[in-house]
Amino acid sequence: MTGPGPLVGDFRRLFGRDPEIVARAPGRIEVIGNHTDYNGGTVLGAAIDRSVWVALARRADGIRRMSSGLSGRVVERPASDLARLSGPDSWVNYPLGVLAALPSFGLRSPAGFDYLASSDLPVGAGLSSSAAIELASGLAFLRAAGEDPPREMLVRIGRHAENNFVGVPCGILDQGVSGFGRKDRLVFIDCRGPRFDTVPLPPGAHFWIFNTHTKHALVDGMYAQRHRECQEAARALGVALLADVKPPVPGTLPEPQGRRARHVVEEIARVGEAVRALEAGDLLAVGRLLTASHRSSRDLFENSTAELDFLVDTLVALPGVYGARLTGGGFGGAVMAMTDGGFNDARAAEAAASYARRFGSKPGILHARTANGAELL
Ligand code: GLA
Repeated sequence: MTGPGPLVGDFRRLFGRDPEIVARAPGRIEVIGNHTDYNGGTVLGAAIDRSVWVALARRADGIRRMSSGLSGRVVERPASDLARLSGPDSWVNYPLGVLAALPSFGLRSPAGFDYLASSDLPVGAGLSSSAAIELASGLAFLRAAGEDPPREMLVRIGRHAENNFVGVPCGILDQGVSGFGRKDRLVFIDCRGPRFDTVPLPPGAHFWIFNTHTKHALVDGMYAQRHRECQEAARALGVALLADVKPPVPGTLPEPQGRRARHVVEEIARVGEAVRALEAGDLLAVGRLLTASHRSSRDLFENSTAELDFLVDTLVALPGVYGARLTGGGFGGAVMAMTDGGFNDARAAEAAASYARRFGSKPGILHARTANGAELL
């Protein structure tokens, strides 16, 4: 199901009336800046033309009925009940986490409502479907409650839900890019502020996503472990955040904290170089930085996998590919490639076929275009 059209029809069939509010929020590609966000660093991302849509109509009886195109089930609970769910209904924790976060930001939440979410964003591919549902839900809830906070607050509400309700200690990248995305531009975030900005994407640059459909069984635990190792490294270096360290990282740290710190500190430097190369329209240089970022993930941050490494190596050997890297948290998920306009479905299929020969299954392929950030429709 894609777009607000089918969503409205489905809403009518499910709840027997029209939605009052429809909101959309896009997924994102992490272009460069891997695990820099929660270390106070900088990062570049792109909102893509794949989204989560939320339709909502208020109810006077204080009951919340929530459904998604994914499960087809309706979760029904009183507005007073904000307990986490597990099993097939656990997707509800994203909108519930947003509702639970609103009071911490001094904002009202709507009491009863009917709610339907749908998505054309692959889930579990590292394209931040969770941030997209948080932001689309947040926009819908805020409109329903008559609140209109600044965009930056919407982004922080999404992250708050993820950190405190869903329980993933992520940074601001995913929600920031979903919130501040703009067509034909990349989102630049200085995560310490956070401060959000955009830089133009030079014409002729294309993004292709290759989703391995693999996910490390312990991916959330591994993410949290890397977060901890970064904090330990910062403490040992006597700084609050690794972003305070200028390269080179002193060789005095124990391992693996030393490797983690080198990755983050050098990656922040690469983000700065990538911004300068983008401004100069030098896509070859941007591509080299992307591939260098991947090698650093592989060797220093150790959040890559054999599948992701194989795809990167295969892609960078193909004509038209400027660079490639894992995108997002790592430990599975997707690889993104930045290519010229000559790279096409046939080339992408070639990469997918060599992957299938090696790993026995084809990766999902997506030629993603940049898109605008979250919006009410
Ligand atoms: C995930 C997190 C982000 C960021 C990336 C790695 O996508 O949600 O906050 O840390 O991993 O850069």
